[in-house]
Amino acid sequence: MTRDLGLYIHWPFCISKCPYCDFNSHVRASIDEDAWEKALLIEMDHMAKLTKGRTLSTVFFGGGTPSLMRPKTVAALLDRLSAHWQLTPDLEITLEANPGTVDKERFQGFKDAGVTRLSMGIQSLHNDALAFLGRKHSAEEALAALKLAGTLFERFSFDLIYARPEQSLSAWREELSRALELAGGHLSLYQLTMEKGTSFYTRHQRGEFTLPDEDLAAALYEATEELTGKAGYASYEVSNYARPGHACRHNLIYWRSQDFMGIGPGAHGRVTAPEGRLEMRVTKAPETWLARVHAHGHGLDEKVLLSPDQSFEEALLMGLRLLEGVSLETLKSTSPEGFEALLKSPKLETLIAEGLLLPPTQTHLMATPEGRLKLNGLLAYLIE
Ligand SMILES: C[S@@+](CC[C@H](N)C(=O)[O-])C[C@H]1O[C@@H](n2cnc3c(N)ncnc32)[C@H](O)[C@@H]1O
Ligand code: SF4
Repeated sequence: MTRDLGLYIHWPFCISKCPYCDFNSHVRASIDEDAWEKALLIEMDHMAKLTKGRTLSTVFFGGGTPSLMRPKTVAALLDRLSAHWQLTPDLEITLEANPGTVDKERFQGFKDAGVTRLSMGIQSLHNDALAFLGRKHSAEEALAALKLAGTLFERFSFDLIYARPEQSLSAWREELSRALELAGGHLSLYQLTMEKGTSFYTRHQRGEFTLPDEDLAAALYEATEELTGKAGYASYEVSNYARPGHACRHNLIYWRSQDFMGIGPGAHGRVTAPEGRLEMRVTKAPETWLARVHAHGHGLDEKVLLSPDQSFEEALLMGLRLLEGVSLETLKSTSPEGFEALLKSPKLETLIAEGLLLPPTQTHLMATPEGRLKLNGLLAYLIE
């Protein structure tokens, strides 16, 4: 079985910290970008040793806010790729951009560096919601950034956060319909979640705002599926919607349990070696990471062999998020025993009878739309 290979590059800095966000993102008055560029190159060289000679299909600059990087830093990283890997002719190179950090020259610089796809954190098309979400950009700036992205990039996506406090079903339908008119083939639509350690988490606990109840959240999700579907966008993953040919190939590598390397603070990787699937985890704190890479040539905290059970559960967890489901071949290759046991399990029958899973096809096991809505409970039951 040939596996795709992707490279994730983490840029951990943002202009300000959004109150809902628990990503590895930090605000710093200044950074030494030359030292960061050098360190990312050093870590890339290190990770490449594990995957020498393979073909690279995707690169993803995530964050944080990678659109704060100098285009010249992005170019230096992309220029190094061919020293390590063969590159697919249609190499997908995505960069996450925050609308407050973009102008024409910068976008053009990213394009000239080799970026082929932009993913923008728009979050909302309404100024009051943007203020609540602690965003530093206005709806007008978001629209201008989208327009610019559309003129320069054939493929672009944007993120919206819905199921916000006091958001009615009709207001979301209206906002999403507008978003679909502006979209370039791909949208990531996330329900607002309260993550431990964020300021929203504390404020929510204190009762400063309430979130839509379960029924409204389900109705908002159903409206999302309906409107995106009518506009020709397949819900190819729980929160991701794309027209044919526009799915994010890099994220598909994660969901299909294929191989990827991660460089930069807090990045993860999974690479299939002859002895099994390796999990790699890079140290999270930006300054510690920088010092370690300069001292030791990499910032890896952990490089462990996953057990067949761990790989199997992960493949199931990731794959059932997809409309196409989880590949039976992938499940079988991670754990032949686990695969046989799953197919014979009475729990599988129960979930099919309850309308949460579909009977396996020749190639895949799929969740129904209702099953995808209840994925956490479903998986907990299936693998407990
Ligand atoms: C790394 S950010 C994207 C790029 C850039 N940092 C930005 O915010 O514009 C990843 C995305 O995850 C989503 N996200 C983060 N925390 C979330 C939360 N608690 N609930 C819902 N969506 C969230 C946001 O839509 C955000 O754009
Ligand atoms: S949502 Fe984006 S801009 Fe806001 S803190 Fe998180 S990574 Fe930074």
